[in-house]
Amino acid sequence: MSQSAETKTIEQCIGEPTEPANIVIFGAGGDLTKRKLIPALVTMLRCGLLHSESKVIGVLKGRSHEEWLTSLYDGIQAYAPDLEMDSEQWRQFIVRFKMVDGDLKDESTYQELANSLDTLQGNVHAMFYCAVPPEWYTTIAAGLHKEGLAKEENGFRRVVIEKPFGMDLESARKLNHDLQSLLNESQIYRIDHYLGKESVQNLLVYRFANSILEPLWNRNFIDHIQISAAEAIGIGYRANYYEKSGALRDMIQSHLMQVMTLVAMEPPVEFTADAVRDEKIKVLRAVRHFEKGNIENLALAAQYGAGKSDAGQSNAETFKAYVAEDGVSPDSVSETFAAVRFNIDNWRWQGVPFILWTGKRLPKRVSEIVIRFRKPPFNLFDTHANPPLANSLVFRVHPDEGICLRMNAKMPGLTTDTQRMVMRAPYSENGEDVSDAYEVLLHDVLTGDATLFSRADEVEESWSIIEPILDAWKDRISVERYRSGSWDIPGMDALFDDCVGGWHKPS
Ligand code: BG6
Repeated sequence: MSQSAETKTIEQCIGEPTEPANIVIFGAGGDLTKRKLIPALVTMLRCGLLHSESKVIGVLKGRSHEEWLTSLYDGIQAYAPDLEMDSEQWRQFIVRFKMVDGDLKDESTYQELANSLDTLQGNVHAMFYCAVPPEWYTTIAAGLHKEGLAKEENGFRRVVIEKPFGMDLESARKLNHDLQSLLNESQIYRIDHYLGKESVQNLLVYRFANSILEPLWNRNFIDHIQISAAEAIGIGYRANYYEKSGALRDMIQSHLMQVMTLVAMEPPVEFTADAVRDEKIKVLRAVRHFEKGNIENLALAAQYGAGKSDAGQSNAETFKAYVAEDGVSPDSVSETFAAVRFNIDNWRWQGVPFILWTGKRLPKRVSEIVIRFRKPPFNLFDTHANPPLANSLVFRVHPDEGICLRMNAKMPGLTTDTQRMVMRAPYSENGEDVSDAYEVLLHDVLTGDATLFSRADEVEESWSIIEPILDAWKDRISVERYRSGSWDIPGMDALFDDCVGGWHKPS
């Protein structure tokens, strides 16, 4: 199956033009700014998604303006070499950069910031990006509020926050409450970078711009659905966060449950932020609640032990166990792998398990959505040497975005034996990631499109769904281990016991 539509890279996709705005980054000296935000702004400017008169104001402490800019330039070279940014291009890019040197707790920082905002074509539009740990979100919102910076009198004022939005239901409610007492909900953009991925948005197009999928998209034809994010990396330098978070909070409560809502939702009446988010929240409200007694059978946690990449090969890299990573307690029971089996009790999905799983130090980095169809009611060919397998439709989120349909076909020759036939439709012609999520999401904030951002009620609903699992896991004294670089996750096959075809390990 080959794609007939021409695939465009983000550089070729000129979106709605943005008005010139002040782009304020709190935590401008941090990792997220260097790795993601600055490269995204460069790309946006190059492809016309960022107005050339826009300003970038970095709020940080303890560095000179010169040192800050040098570290950003080094970041571009290290994390976005594909941008091929030379020093002359960089010099032209940073003419729009200013810096506010100040502590986030100090009123004077917000006063200085107010003086730094520029009037651009008659408006003072501002996007405030909180690239800081979550404990600072409310302090920043309060600082903006107090200084009158959140008032939308002479332009829009939008505040972007990153996950985690709370660490459980109570803290998420408190965060929402605190932010909503300082800002309007319409000014708060909760980023979930999975929703900015081209392939995740494409899922909506596949579902709602094609009529052949809809008749099959329900409990009559689908046996179960797997939504996964496997990663080859370990926790790196993030022990501090990860020890408190674990894989369930880090990936399932946010990214994977968001993807689940897009897979399961009803067609919205229009493609607007609230129409889409109204349908997503209905899915979350229909998720069957976990009870103390069934969590053991429906949720699984494991932690990576020592191991090797490509075990068996001579150049295999050796990995240490999670508990031996810098900053991790030797008795840590935090999970680096989590899987949860959700049931959605509505007319479309009753009886179709949605199994979401994620893990670090697995053999490869792959994220995908596997729709496994039911077996044919009567199989004519079951007696043959290769009995046909159930059909599946796989949406590859990354890498190698695209879809792939697995069917059965006849073996050539004088036989009715069957063989597996895989029809692939790569989304990207060149095999690279089509776009990075941040360009898309920053552009959406600047144009005021909140469709791909999580609303307060969605965040609270998803925490309330997994809260019983968090409770059940909080006092555990041990956790299952798996070998780094392997798919040997204890208990995973059992989670798929009654699912046609079992656990789909990415190939
Ligand atoms: C982040 C998680 O939100 O997503 C990380 O905190 C994870 O632990 C990352 O590695 C995965 O993102 P992606 O886009 O590489 O799948």
